[in-house]
Amino acid sequence: MPATVNDEPRNIPRHIAIIMDGNGRWARERGLPRTEGHRRGADTVRTVCDACGELGVDFLTLYAFSSENWKRPKREVQALMKLLEQFLRTRTPEMMEQNIRLQAIGRLHALPPACQQQLHRSIEQTSQNTGLTLILALSYGGREEIVDGVKSLLDSIERGHLDKGMIDTEVFSKHLYTRYYPDPDLLIRTSGEMRLSNFLLWQLSYTEFYITETLWPDFGKEDLINAIRAYGQRHRRFGAVA
Ligand code: IPE
Ligand code: IPE
Ligand code: MG
Repeated sequence: MPATVNDEPRNIPRHIAIIMDGNGRWARERGLPRTEGHRRGADTVRTVCDACGELGVDFLTLYAFSSENWKRPKREVQALMKLLEQFLRTRTPEMMEQNIRLQAIGRLHALPPACQQQLHRSIEQTSQNTGLTLILALSYGGREEIVDGVKSLLDSIERGHLDKGMIDTEVFSKHLYTRYYPDPDLLIRTSGEMRLSNFLLWQLSYTEFYITETLWPDFGKEDLINAIRAYGQRHRRFGAVA
């Protein structure tokens, strides 16, 4: 029987991270341009945010554009950036209505100026909201984040704020883009690929993985609930004997 929101799973992850993949394949299957897949993918973002809000998820991190995605054809990159700006502009009023707080991680300065401006405007506007925290990973790479973290650590040492002997995993976490958020409990990847593609390498150490064949534009509330249900069946041991 298909799951519905009325039939809510009980063990809700506090933080869900999603590798939103398969937009291009979705479009190709329909003989449409890849950008149409991205446009439909943006609609899925809205559906998934609504569902996470309803279910009481606290943090949702979405991998929207990777460091490596800059290698795509210029036209596709431009279309994605335009879509991002449009998404932020048109969806910010909805985020206000739904009490969603927007955040972003990644090398944000690499984004086109218009995107950066809109992003900062949306982050600022939603900063007092207390519901779901939506974190967009943009121009994000896990290795780049770790390198930036090392630089930030060295800076703190140089300025005399930190002693080398004090560095441990807790301290290092505080130098990552994600320093304000807990690690993800559940990672979802759509479209069946079994890899991390440079996503949250540090933070996913003990995250439960859920891979679905469903392509991102087709992913809906039911799929999210199925993922959360599967998560609820997992036995998280964190290396201990249980
Ligand atoms: C995910 O869909 C969106 C981004 C990476 C920006 P893809 O564009 O990777 O879709 P496929 O993998 O080619 O189907
Ligand atoms: C990962 O998907 C990046 C995003 C979803 C933003 P890709 O489609 O870029 O990953 P690969 O190239 O298949 O590993
Ligand atoms: Mg892909």
